[in-house]
Amino acid sequence: MTRTYVVTGAASGIGKATVEHLRAQGHTVFGVDIRDTDIIADLSTDDGRASLVEQANRLSGGRLDGVIAVAGLVAPKPITVRVNYFGAKATLESLQPLLTKSDAPRAAVVASMGALTEVDDDLLALLLADDEPGAVEAAERLGTTTLATGMSPIYATTKNAIARYVRIHAKDDQWSGAGIALNAIAPGVIETPMVAATLATEEGRAAMAEGAPAPLNGPAAPPTAPAALLAWLTSEENSFVTGQIIFIDGGAESILRPELV
Ligand SMILES: NC(=O)c1ccc[n+]([C@@H]2O[C@H](COP(=O)([O-])OP(=O)(O)OC[C@H]3O[C@@H](n4cnc5c(N)ncnc54)[C@H](O)[C@@H]3O)[C@@H](O)[C@H]2O)c1
Repeated sequence: MTRTYVVTGAASGIGKATVEHLRAQGHTVFGVDIRDTDIIADLSTDDGRASLVEQANRLSGGRLDGVIAVAGLVAPKPITVRVNYFGAKATLESLQPLLTKSDAPRAAVVASMGALTEVDDDLLALLLADDEPGAVEAAERLGTTTLATGMSPIYATTKNAIARYVRIHAKDDQWSGAGIALNAIAPGVIETPMVAATLATEEGRAAMAEGAPAPLNGPAAPPTAPAALLAWLTSEENSFVTGQIIFIDGGAESILRPELV
């Protein structure tokens, strides 16, 4: 049966591949991005988030079967807090009422393997307390500092927080109680414009291979791989997987924390 989806980050990389995958299966998909797609909305602002809801309601007739929050940034800047955590959370929560009209509603968000690295505890607490102005200030203070892994603490912490959001809230009345599966995927290195510059140099490839070792078909996967996983997690077939962070990383997570079962 064909379904109706909203996918953010639809203009590039994983989001674009997800839109293409779902459309190839015959589904109706409304892409969301700041450019080049069906719904133009800036998820870093309240106005953009409100515009997303208004446009999604109008285009879908008020009913969605799947919501997939992919849009994200890696820049060590406060806007990364706004898009990666608050924009993703707003996408999920503000479109949840449209999902309740579906017989098989599903939602998914893209976290990152970066969620496994060290986080900034102050920023994490502000994100989980839903304090956007406070989190933006904390990100301003962190600026371009890096973690031991070389990753921005802003990126790592926003991805850790959105993964925690899924773990904490999937069981809630709003999600499981309404029959809505809510999951995250945590990609390793995926060949998209986000990492193209890093993958283009030998030094960059070596750093990525160290942070995200991918013995299965590494060092990086095409965006079609996470797209297919997102499509399954938000399909009618997925009637019992929820609250999970699914690593799609060529084996990196199993290498970095083999004790976890
Ligand atoms: N590429 C990787 O290796 C990798 C690894 C782990 C996680 N991720 C995550 O996957 C997601 C997609 O990344 P990608 O690699 O496809 O990157 P990408 O840069 O190709 O795509 C990101 C998309 O998000 C959109 N976007 C950015 N700011 C926005 C805003 N304010 N409002 C609306 N849309 C906005 C961009 O315009 C772009 O189209 C991100 O959340 C990223 O953190 C990527």
